[in-house]
Amino acid sequence: MFKLLHKNIMKLDRHLHIDIDQMPAEGLDKLPNKLAPFVWFFAKQVKWPLIGIAVTEGAFAMLISVMFWYVGELVAQESYGAAMLWLGVALLAIRFVVGTLAEIFYHLVYTPYVGNLVRRQLYWYTARQSLAFFQNDFAGRIANKLLQSAPSLRDAVKSTIGSVWFALTFTATNLWFLFHADVLLALPLAIWLVGYAYILWCFVPKVQRRSTEHSEDMSTLTGQIVDSFTNALPIKYFARTDHEDARVVGLLRKHSSSFRGVTSTIWQMTFVIDIMNTLLLIATAYVGYILIQTQGQAGIAATAMALPMVFQATFQSGWIMFEVSGIFENLGRVQEGIEILTRKHDVTDQKKAQDLAVDRTSSDIRFDAVTFNYGKKSEENDLVFDKFNLHIPAGQKVGLVGRSGAGKSTITSLLVRAYDVQDGAIEIGGKNISEITQESLRRHITVVTQESYLFHRSIIDNIRYGKPEASEDEVIAAAKRASAHEFILGLEDNRGRKGYQAHVGERGVKLSGGQKQRIGIARAILKDAPILILDEATSALDSESEHAIQTALEGIMEDKTVLAIAHRLSTLRQMDRILVMEAGEIIEDGTHDELINLPKGHYAKLWNMQSGGFLKEAA
Ligand SMILES: Nc1ncnc2c1ncn2[C@@H]1O[C@H](COP(=O)(O)OP(=O)(O)OP(=O)(O)O)[C@@H](O)[C@H]1O
Ligand SMILES: [Mg+2]
Repeated sequence: MFKLLHKNIMKLDRHLHIDIDQMPAEGLDKLPNKLAPFVWFFAKQVKWPLIGIAVTEGAFAMLISVMFWYVGELVAQESYGAAMLWLGVALLAIRFVVGTLAEIFYHLVYTPYVGNLVRRQLYWYTARQSLAFFQNDFAGRIANKLLQSAPSLRDAVKSTIGSVWFALTFTATNLWFLFHADVLLALPLAIWLVGYAYILWCFVPKVQRRSTEHSEDMSTLTGQIVDSFTNALPIKYFARTDHEDARVVGLLRKHSSSFRGVTSTIWQMTFVIDIMNTLLLIATAYVGYILIQTQGQAGIAATAMALPMVFQATFQSGWIMFEVSGIFENLGRVQEGIEILTRKHDVTDQKKAQDLAVDRTSSDIRFDAVTFNYGKKSEENDLVFDKFNLHIPAGQKVGLVGRSGAGKSTITSLLVRAYDVQDGAIEIGGKNISEITQESLRRHITVVTQESYLFHRSIIDNIRYGKPEASEDEVIAAAKRASAHEFILGLEDNRGRKGYQAHVGERGVKLSGGQKQRIGIARAILKDAPILILDEATSALDSESEHAIQTALEGIMEDKTVLAIAHRLSTLRQMDRILVMEAGEIIEDGTHDELINLPKGHYAKLWNMQSGGFLKEAA
């Protein structure tokens, strides 16, 4: 019996199975940014299980009402015939089946999958946001919103059907039975219902407001604790543990007080509803008393049905109130997430975007009257570039120097389309980069920055990131060129994985800044794209490894278009051409020898300043 049931349940489960990828996220280039359309966008993808829940829940609610009617009928008939007995058994059996179905829809079909179905699509959409998007917000905050909104949306939809729809059907059926027994009997419940709705209407927004305050306090508290653990180092070095303590206690107090705000509002609401419930019971009993006085047996039958009915309604009133508050709380959380999760993609591929296909001989770079600022609106004085022009022929190796804030790194960001320009055009191989796919653009450019970002994965996976299909030998060759092979062989993480298999970060090996950088450079060597950008790539290294890597880099610069940004001028001596930048403009342009001989030239001045210590020898 149980086995058969189980088999059929599994069959049903397969039929109504929700697949995380059931609506492929590909091409999801827009998400609704208003609450109702946003919820509907996901709800409609699982409409069958939802309809299943609605039908079974509705039927279950009606059946509870029918049971009370059945009790009334028993009293009315004053006897217990076979027909009534079988009707009772049938009602219980149907109730069991319907109830089981509802639970199956809930627990086996809907609940386990819907949260992740939503997360899947939100993740797909968020992962395709521009770099600026991720730079402007805490990664943890975005992740948190993404993970939290999904179950909130799922629960809000579920509770709306499981409790609000359930209660509405139950109450409507009750009223129908009561009304048919005696109009007077329906009256107290009808009046109570109006009062109940009014109380929800008054209190729920209040609960919601308080909950939002409370959840904001919670976020701030989390932020503070995470911040103080992340910054353990300055806290220890400045001996500020007590200071941080005080901040946490302050926030905990605030958190407690806003939590009290929520619970006290809920208490007030419960108190008022308790009073109403008591009045409802008294009123129904009183009407029953009158009916018994005037109608005798029929009155007793009606009262036998009505009293348990309203009793049940009062029992449920607290639960429904709780659920409704929960729905609003969840919707509040979804609303909070919507703002960030549905933000429009600001760097997108054009509909007719083509793939870039340039090689070493055709990968010239041109900035044509490029105007750009980081702000939203173009404010004149905020411009990083104002009609900026630059041409780098294919295969040329260019060194870029200039003061901090001159706009050197911005050139890199614009070239890989981390941001779009406000005006003008950037071309590679004669193609405007806004008209080619971002993927293909970035495949053609290798960027090595001062900081190397490593994943919490094995060393080999980190290097292979530059070329997923690379063989182990290729990886090792690249590591050797980046002077990383030696130290990699000596690594062992705390799970005993050694060398290239050792994991980096969290629970793996910790690498020094210079070691990380060498792995980053190995990754870049492996990628081997026609355009190479080095933004302070070697400045985190000691002079000995810098020299070694410089040689390695010079090796891979062969037949590539190169833009190397550096503060240490000695690293740029081998370049074909040097550019000096100031406040978004190129003020000097020539070979090292030309620039060094410019009277009063910036480059010449810098060169003389830096030609102290070891730089002189290197030069
Ligand atoms: N993400 C950003 N948002 C807003 N403004 C930025 C951003 N990044 C840079 N800027 C501003 O743009 C200007 C150019 O910065 P950029 O990073 O290009 O300078 P840089 O020449 O690379 O300097 P450094 O030598 O210190 O690396 C600076 O005024 C800087 O404050
Ligand atoms: Mg920079």
